[in-house]
Amino acid sequence: MQSAGFPLLERGYDDAPFIYLDSASTTPKPRSVIDAVVRYYETIGANVHRGTHPLAEAATEAYEGARHRVAALIGAQPAEIVFTRNATGSFNLLARALRLTADDEIVFPASEHHSNYMPWRVDATPVLVDIDDEAVPQWSQLKSKITKRTRLVSVAHVSNVTGVIAPVEEWIETAHAAGVPVMIDASQSIAHLPVDVRALNVDFLAFSSHKMFGPNGVGVLYVRRDRFAELGLGNVGGGMVAMHTEDRFEPLEAPLRYEAGTPNVEGVIGLGAAVDYLRNVGMANIAAHSRALADQLMRGLAELPHATVLGRSARERIALATVSLPLPAMSQQDIARLLADAHGIFVSGGYHCAHVLHHRLHLAGTLRASAHIYNDAADIEAFLAALREL
Ligand SMILES: Cc1ncc(COP(=O)(O)O)c(C=O)c1O
Repeated sequence: MQSAGFPLLERGYDDAPFIYLDSASTTPKPRSVIDAVVRYYETIGANVHRGTHPLAEAATEAYEGARHRVAALIGAQPAEIVFTRNATGSFNLLARALRLTADDEIVFPASEHHSNYMPWRVDATPVLVDIDDEAVPQWSQLKSKITKRTRLVSVAHVSNVTGVIAPVEEWIETAHAAGVPVMIDASQSIAHLPVDVRALNVDFLAFSSHKMFGPNGVGVLYVRRDRFAELGLGNVGGGMVAMHTEDRFEPLEAPLRYEAGTPNVEGVIGLGAAVDYLRNVGMANIAAHSRALADQLMRGLAELPHATVLGRSARERIALATVSLPLPAMSQQDIARLLADAHGIFVSGGYHCAHVLHHRLHLAGTLRASAHIYNDAADIEAFLAALREL
């Protein structure tokens, strides 16, 4: 582990070192992010967009500064960045603002995370793109799934189960050719790959702060500027109206229109520091490191007899691999626990919020290892060695 600058990793758990291979779930935070949150409470501590004293002004400036940083990271304009609670909140906000009904069809792969599945099944009608026996979507099906009732195509840029990078450019082109907007779930790509919303020409994009070295409780919904016009309201309440009388109200312009109530000010400021951190390391450097660890992971897993490795044939991936090991009397969750207790290797075991994927493949859970910039080849080798031993 290259723990320097990540207090949690430097300290270990209960003072014992561990190998953290669960970054797809959430990432530890660098010192600069923790400091930014603490500094807010120690030196500002005020609410945003209201109040006329210096602390309130400083809070608003820091909060809006973070919006500029997030926008710059993905090539957007600040006015296109809506802060939410998490990626899940971004999907739910969009589902509500699109004013969906059961007549509306939303097309997405059967492998999607529940957060890019549940809002569409509750508010509209899901149309699933099938997956193959490695859990990879059959990308070419998209065109045949789009009908006159399709309101949106939604897809994970990188699957949180397979780590495979989706051909999002092609999907956006296909959907747009049919006049359908596209939502990209960048939850797993945002901290591994450069993401440029202008180059992609994507309509909507969502991600969470906590998977990109930022604090919990903050998400982002990017909305291409021209798309706001067709959206209804999201949450309503304080902070999102310009004028409110007994007879009528006037909502503020986006993005504040979609940020009702006191936001997670410290979280947003911490996210701004996380963006600085990512950009200092350099997204191209991070992508290259992720790629190298991914190759090592996949080579090692391919040598394990009897292991089912999801997405094994796909070439484009990040440092995330998911496997099912047929061990008698041990579930994949048990194996994850054993790796933690016997080897100090922390991975995920279970369904990774993708039940439909697992049901379709008849898998009772899987084991997922996901690496990031603080991991090195020795960490991957330790994981592979532990699996070989099992
Ligand atoms: C691909 C993907 N989408 C959405 C989410 C939901 O993120 P959050 O729980 O931060 O809302 C996750 C989190 O695991 C994810 O991996």
